[in-house]
Amino acid sequence: MTDKFLTLIQTRRSIYNLGKESPLYPEELNRIFRECLKQCPTAFNSQSGRLAVLYQHYNKRLWNITSDILEQLSSPEQFIQTQKKLNSFASGTGTILYFIDDSITQKLQKKYPLYAEHFPTWAEQANGMLQYMIWTALAEHKIGASLQHYNPLIDEQVRHSFDIPSNWRLTAQMPFGSIIQPAEEKTFESLEKRIKIFY
Ligand SMILES: Cc1cc2nc3c(=O)[nH]c(=O)nc-3n(C[C@H](O)[C@H](O)[C@H](O)COP(=O)(O)O)c2cc1C
Repeated sequence: MTDKFLTLIQTRRSIYNLGKESPLYPEELNRIFRECLKQCPTAFNSQSGRLAVLYQHYNKRLWNITSDILEQLSSPEQFIQTQKKLNSFASGTGTILYFIDDSITQKLQKKYPLYAEHFPTWAEQANGMLQYMIWTALAEHKIGASLQHYNPLIDEQVRHSFDIPSNWRLTAQMPFGSIIQPAEEKTFESLEKRIKIFY
C-alpha cells in the first residue's frame, strides 16, 4: 500500500539554503497559494487567513527591513550569523507572508459570545494549517521552504512597505525557493509515548 499523502509529509522539511531555480513559474506557484488559501479549513468557515506573496525586489525588501531591525537589536557577533541566515532567505524565489484578519475574529466574538474566548486560538490554529498546507504543497514540487517569525518586530515596516490593511496581523514568514542544501536527518521521540490507541 502506498499512501501518497504520507510520503509527501515525509518530504516536507525546513529548508534554509534557498536558490532561485524554482521548478515552477510564479503563475503556478500563485495557483498553489490561492487554492490552499481557498481550501484551508477555518472555525465557523470564517476564512480568516490572509496572504501576501513577495517576489524579486519585494522579497529583497522584506529581508532588508528585517536585517536593519535585527542589526539594531543584536551584538555585532550575533548579527554576522543572523545576516547569513537572512541572506539565504533573500536568495530564494520569494516569501509568503501569513496574516490573520482580526476584524473577522472580533465579528465572530460579538456574534457568538459563548465561544468568544476561543476564536483567537482557532484563528491561529487555522493559520497554522494554511502554513502547513502551503509548505507541503511546495515540497511536492521539490521547492524548499521554512517557517520564520520576525513578527512583531517587523510588523510596522511590513504594513507600510506592502500596503497591508490595518486589520491584518502578521503571523509568520515563509521564504521559499530551490533547495541548495537539503535538511539534515531528523530525530523522533518514541511514538509509543505520544499516542494512546484503544481498540
Ligand atoms: C509553529 C512553528 C513555529 C516555528 N518557528 C520557526 C522559526 O521561527 N524559525 C525557524 O527557523 N523554524 C521554525 N519552525 C520550524 C521547526 O523548527 C521545524 O519544523 C522542526 O525543527 C522540525 O524540522 P522540519 O521542519 O525539517 O521537519 C517552526 C515550526 C512550527 C511548527
